[in-house]
Amino acid sequence: MNLSMVKVICVTNQKGGVGKTTTAVNLAYYLAKDKFSTLLVDFDPQGNATSGLGFDKNDKEKLGATMTEVVLGTAEMEDAVRPTKYKNFDLAPATPELANAEVEITGMQRKFVRLRDAVRKVADGYDYVIIDLPPSLSLLTVNGMIASDYLLLPVQTEFYALEGVAQLLESMRLVMKQANPKLQLIGVLATMYDKRTSLSAQVYEEIKKYFKNLVFKTTIPRNVRVAEAPSHGVPVGAYDKFSKGAKAYKDFAKELEERTK
Ligand SMILES: Nc1ncnc2c1ncn2[C@@H]1O[C@H](COP(=O)(O)OP(=O)(O)O)[C@@H](O)[C@H]1O
Ligand SMILES: [Mg+2]
Repeated sequence: MNLSMVKVICVTNQKGGVGKTTTAVNLAYYLAKDKFSTLLVDFDPQGNATSGLGFDKNDKEKLGATMTEVVLGTAEMEDAVRPTKYKNFDLAPATPELANAEVEITGMQRKFVRLRDAVRKVADGYDYVIIDLPPSLSLLTVNGMIASDYLLLPVQTEFYALEGVAQLLESMRLVMKQANPKLQLIGVLATMYDKRTSLSAQVYEEIKKYFKNLVFKTTIPRNVRVAEAPSHGVPVGAYDKFSKGAKAYKDFAKELEERTK
């Protein structure tokens, strides 16, 4: 039984390739490993969280109900949710058709709160719901922000790391003003940190100057095991739990647990 209040966290950055999906999958994995009942919602038409957990995003038949049908209102959220091979870890998958669904719901009622309504239907059974969002400030992203208590911002420790971040924070502010006042920035996670270059350290300092103690102490190193794991359909913790990447995501999950206590 779950006596605590569920915490809904969306992983957002409108830049692609910054580690959103990697963070969503591995955070969910370690939260579940720490005995928190966790649901990962794939809300990106790229379906990378879905395939990264070993589900075939292109086999609609086999997948059954996905977030595409849920947002269109042709399937219930309960039917889209299924267990992964890991204890306490469920997934609501996405397929490329979610992109068409986004266009379709533009003309529908309650287009901004479709994800929130869906998540609420299943939230009671979970400690954490993690939502992986697309690399855009789209209707899907706004749905994600409205459905969430917390926004988690992964930032790649590269040139232009903070490019577009002001715009994202402005979107967040608008969502808070118009629809979801309780939304909170849970923190900024530095990803793909390369300790062999001074650039990563410089960018990390820059991020800290901007976000101060909102920046997580844990940084995620650039690590080949992290990049390999999705092609095997598993989180890095299940692929090589002794890798630097796995250890970092484990530490990060702990830090996030502390912040959401
Ligand atoms: N810490 C890391 N070390 C090495 N490769 C990484 C790391 N994090 C992510 N990647 C790789 O970088 C690419 C982009 O990551 P992804 O999580 O898909 O970003 P996003 O969801 O923001 O587009 C993927 O190929 C992923 O495997
Ligand atoms: Mg992604």
